[in-house]
Amino acid sequence: MNLINPIYYGKEGIKEINNFIQENKPSKIVFLVDENTHKYCYPQVISGIETTAETEIIEIKPGEENKNLYICIQLWETLTHFKTDRKGLLINIGGGVLTDMGGFVANCYKRGINFINIPTTLLAMVDASIGGKTGVDLGSHKNQIGNFALPRMVIVDPEFILTLPQEQILSGFAEIIKHGLIADEVYWKEIAALKEIKTENLEKLIRTSIEIKKEVVSQDFTETGLRKILNFGHTIGHAVESFFLENKTPVMHGEGVAMGMIVESYISVRKELLSRQEYEEIKEYISSLYPKLAIKEEYFDNILAFMQNDKKNVNNEIKFVLLEKIGKAVYDISVEEELIKEALRTYIEG
Ligand SMILES: NC(=O)c1ccc[n+]([C@@H]2O[C@H](COP(=O)([O-])OP(=O)(O)OC[C@H]3O[C@@H](n4cnc5c(N)ncnc54)[C@H](O)[C@@H]3O)[C@@H](O)[C@H]2O)c1
Repeated sequence: MNLINPIYYGKEGIKEINNFIQENKPSKIVFLVDENTHKYCYPQVISGIETTAETEIIEIKPGEENKNLYICIQLWETLTHFKTDRKGLLINIGGGVLTDMGGFVANCYKRGINFINIPTTLLAMVDASIGGKTGVDLGSHKNQIGNFALPRMVIVDPEFILTLPQEQILSGFAEIIKHGLIADEVYWKEIAALKEIKTENLEKLIRTSIEIKKEVVSQDFTETGLRKILNFGHTIGHAVESFFLENKTPVMHGEGVAMGMIVESYISVRKELLSRQEYEEIKEYISSLYPKLAIKEEYFDNILAFMQNDKKNVNNEIKFVLLEKIGKAVYDISVEEELIKEALRTYIEG
């Protein structure tokens, strides 16, 4: 089994889809889009696709609140209604919500049909669409239901982010920061030199980030070890994201991760791993880009309850990915609840 999906860039990608279609002769091609990607991205994709197969479009509403099993059921029913058989091909055009859910739907439908991801947000390009993690949320529990399933290919065309709102760019940029912090000090310095996130600066960063993610995933596809480092910032970040989702005031994935990286860097210092100087450098840079989240002490127990459910935990112990230094992460570190609370308090006090 190939441990990572092929990734093609820009217009070369559409050619590769056409080659795939020619070789595999799908019985039907179904495009999964949301309202925004239908408008901004689908026309560009479909204009390049060459096929005589029947095509269909399924449009869903955008947003994390639609990444759930109820929508999956509707998608499976629609695929059935379209008489999609096992030689059908699903092409997911969208952000992480759509590629996570589309991959899951494809992988479960008739025990698995081929799918291709065309990520259209920065976050999906550098992270969500590659590496084979698919799934949906269960209530407020993020990505609780899912599996590992590789798309046949991923097409990364940075042009799509030209229509992306700036807050979405910033959300995806958090994963780029994470890649520097966990794996490459030189890359971190390049990132930290950017005082403003402009789309024209992003193409090179997208490629470097994808290379880092590919390298990690190819060593540990099912996340029994090294791949856990990609969760830096996510133990806190996911819990905070879930908490705000439950309270109907969702924050963006990247905002949760940005906050998570500050708090987990603090914990790294307290565990005598990271130097205080590097922590200050990380905190200062992330705080210069992201708004402070409105966390209060009275939320701590609820946030911790979400952390108890984190997929990395073993025997009810909350396991963290921490930084030994910028560019080097360590994983499976148990952290006591008191220290987590202290770190959250330090974040609030700024
Ligand atoms: N599978 C993984 O490894 C992995 C990794 C990280 C994150 N994720 C998941 O990714 C999800 C977040 O993904 P996201 O940040 O891409 O959010 P998203 O999919 O919700 O997209 C954000 C918004 O941008 C819109 N949009 C998408 N492309 C656009 C374009 N080109 N122009 C204009 N608007 C566009 C969407 O319609 C949506 O409103 C979360 O559910 C998270 O759990 C998965």
